[in-house]
Amino acid sequence: MDAISVIRTKRDRGELTPEQIDWVIDAYTRGEVADEQMSALAMAILLNGMNRTEIARWTAAMIASGERMNFAGLSRPTTDKHSTGGVGDKITLPLAPLVAACGAAVPQLSGRGLGHTGGTLDKLESIPGWRAHLSNAEMLDVLDTTGAVICAAGDGLAPADKKLYALRDVTGTVEAIPLIASSIMSKKIAEGTGALVLDVKVGSGAFMKTLDDARELASTMVALGTDSGVRTVALLTDMSTPLGLTAGNALEVRESVEVLAGGGPRDVIDLTLALAREMLDAAGLKDADPEKALQDGSAMDVWRRMISAQGGDPDAALPVAREQHVIKASSSGVLTRLDAYDIGVAAWRLGAGRARKEDPVQAGAGIELHAKPGDEITAGQPLLTLHTDTPEKFDYALKALPDAYDIEPAGTAFTATPVVRE
Ligand code: URA
Repeated sequence: MDAISVIRTKRDRGELTPEQIDWVIDAYTRGEVADEQMSALAMAILLNGMNRTEIARWTAAMIASGERMNFAGLSRPTTDKHSTGGVGDKITLPLAPLVAACGAAVPQLSGRGLGHTGGTLDKLESIPGWRAHLSNAEMLDVLDTTGAVICAAGDGLAPADKKLYALRDVTGTVEAIPLIASSIMSKKIAEGTGALVLDVKVGSGAFMKTLDDARELASTMVALGTDSGVRTVALLTDMSTPLGLTAGNALEVRESVEVLAGGGPRDVIDLTLALAREMLDAAGLKDADPEKALQDGSAMDVWRRMISAQGGDPDAALPVAREQHVIKASSSGVLTRLDAYDIGVAAWRLGAGRARKEDPVQAGAGIELHAKPGDEITAGQPLLTLHTDTPEKFDYALKALPDAYDIEPAGTAFTATPVVRE
């Protein structure tokens, strides 16, 4: 077998054979297939697609490139959630302890932000002392004792995906449904969860901009999970506007703690509860009451134990950026649009995200929203507060924002997009 014949098959719109797929993934992981050959193949897949049989084999080959975890020894059923990524998407933070408080075990292997979307590990690292990297034994111990663990995937889990994802990120080949579906599902199936809820984002701040593409991605991933024996369901959720009132690491932790304390923005609460119900249902815990667990403090108790078990201090003050810049409304009326992508790019430019995967992030950087679509606005009121430690970044961030929102005359009809679309 050789890489050039595999690339030619897909370049010429052919179907890759199981042998070609197994060989190319294995040879790439071992370094026998070069990055430039794999990037040509990834581009051919992006342009010409893969059918469901090819995607299933590609996913299986990526799982086989590393280890599989096993939670069979736990007394509780395991259930996990994966979001395809968005702006202000802090849902994992309240959700994992909430679902654990309702009786499930939540092994949440999470990632870092890249580009305009945030990453759960970056958010949690703004809590002084908190550690993302745990050994497999430590991970199992935190999961067993607290009911939830949020940590980085170990190097042994789907190593083919680690290498391929980093390559796709710098070769313009992220946005291919077969590659996204196999990347996400190889990690989740290897992680060993019994049930999985997929939060497939749709809108300007998401990889999938249209409902049709989001449906296709969701149904591809649900089929991959189900065929591997993982009870898998998907929700399509709105990412045309940021979730909640914050985008940025420490800012989002603060908002998540507000939700765990029984407060917080309505859209964050609604999505957290919708995903919790699906996760509990998929785990067979149909009688659990996540709304009660948010209100009676039991989810907050699990959060505190989970953060402490990973070295974090749940009572420590969160970092605050050194400089702020307030953007005020130039007219009165109704805020009819606040664009997730533009807010995500501006937060990233302020230091909340990274351009390359080895770059550091600023814990305090990001954007606070003072209004959401549908709110009435008075000229001169604050709309957004930009936070950064490096004020020279304000100009660059502001350049992402001139078309980020629309204020239309009072009385203009406004129809809210529901947070759960399907
Ligand atoms: N998240 C992943 O893990 N992989 C992708 O390809 C896209 C988002």
